[in-house]
Amino acid sequence: MSYFLRATNPKVLAFPKGEYKNTLSWDAFPEDICESLNARISSCCLPHGHRDRTRCVVKAMEVNGFNHGPVLIPATVPRPEPGDGELLVCVRAAGVTPTELLWYPTTHTKHGDRRTSAVPGHEFSGVIAALGKGAQDFYLGEEIYGMNDWFADGATAEFCLTQPQNIARKPRSLSHECAATVPIGALTAWQGLFDRAKMRSGEHVLIHGAAGAVGLFAVQLAHLHGAHVIATSSADDVNFVKQLGADEVIDYETSRFEDQIGSVDVVFDGVGGETLDGSWSVLKPGGRMVTIAADSESTKDQRVKDAFFIVEPNQQQLNVVAKLLDCGTLRAFVSAVLPLEEASIAYSRRVRNKRSYGKVVIAVAA
Ligand SMILES: NC(=O)c1ccc[n+]([C@@H]2O[C@H](COP(=O)([O-])OP(=O)(O)OC[C@H]3O[C@@H](n4cnc5c(N)ncnc54)[C@H](OP(=O)(O)O)[C@@H]3O)[C@@H](O)[C@H]2O)c1
Repeated sequence: MSYFLRATNPKVLAFPKGEYKNTLSWDAFPEDICESLNARISSCCLPHGHRDRTRCVVKAMEVNGFNHGPVLIPATVPRPEPGDGELLVCVRAAGVTPTELLWYPTTHTKHGDRRTSAVPGHEFSGVIAALGKGAQDFYLGEEIYGMNDWFADGATAEFCLTQPQNIARKPRSLSHECAATVPIGALTAWQGLFDRAKMRSGEHVLIHGAAGAVGLFAVQLAHLHGAHVIATSSADDVNFVKQLGADEVIDYETSRFEDQIGSVDVVFDGVGGETLDGSWSVLKPGGRMVTIAADSESTKDQRVKDAFFIVEPNQQQLNVVAKLLDCGTLRAFVSAVLPLEEASIAYSRRVRNKRSYGKVVIAVAA
């Protein structure tokens, strides 16, 4: 299912900060509930069976208001309990992918029914707070980063559930905020370049959207793997993309990449639309196209259907990425950090700062 696709031109509505604060916030909850919430935060890492079950509501931000476009509203929800094989994560930071509010799993259940009150943010960094029966590989209090199921509630909350195979130990050198920017971007880049395009050292690869949250990892990984990297970005981002390792950068606002380059072995498309359409003409015979931003459901073009993929959690890849980050070979970037209460602003893209790169992150109080 191409749930990422509908997201290329999102119209995400959000409460302006002042209005949001005045209309609905946790400040409005009775004091006894606030006390209970504070107690939950401080007891979040107690071993399973030692937690006070009278205090099991936690803060989350939920997607709602589909009539005029999705908005995020604060909510108190029952703290998730890990089932068999699951892990409870005390979230310290969650990455923001604004288009996620429009993706299929945010608005539908696995069975295709309408879904409301989904908690977004499916990449995170945090601490293991409880282990479900039979859950292995991680211990209580361990710092981890990773992803969880798109159809499950995400990490824009104090706690979320995940499974051991979806996470890895957090890169030691990164803060939780920085680590939370990595899983979706790095895994999408890795899986696109290596698993799907089977990119080899010495090949020419064209990366569209190179300054974006996914593109910045694609450029670095392709460069590290010995490819000749040609990238597209806006003029403001050219130097940044060069510093990531691109050999050539084309300003997409003033030049047509089709007129600037010869043929390439691999295209990694993070933009879609006309950019994807024009990319077929620069692909060598036998070249490989991958796109993360095409509407593979509505298109009739089988080539696009074949080129599109959706990122999947992968512990082994997260472990390698963590090592690359810890030895400084790979870099991650935090565009801005907002508190949980301001998640609606983060998802509205209104914090986009041309001078900063990487993802906006929601920080959750420890
Ligand atoms: N399929 C998957 O598994 C998957 C996973 C993650 C993300 N996605 C999707 O992939 C897309 C990119 O994600 P992201 O997180 O990297 O988004 P992002 O952080 O918003 O980055 C998008 C980048 O593309 C640039 N751009 C816009 N138009 C362009 C053009 N015509 N040519 C070249 N660059 C252009 C933007 O530059 P400006 O700032 O100058 O506009 C920006 O730097 C989104 O649609 C997202 O929903 C899919």
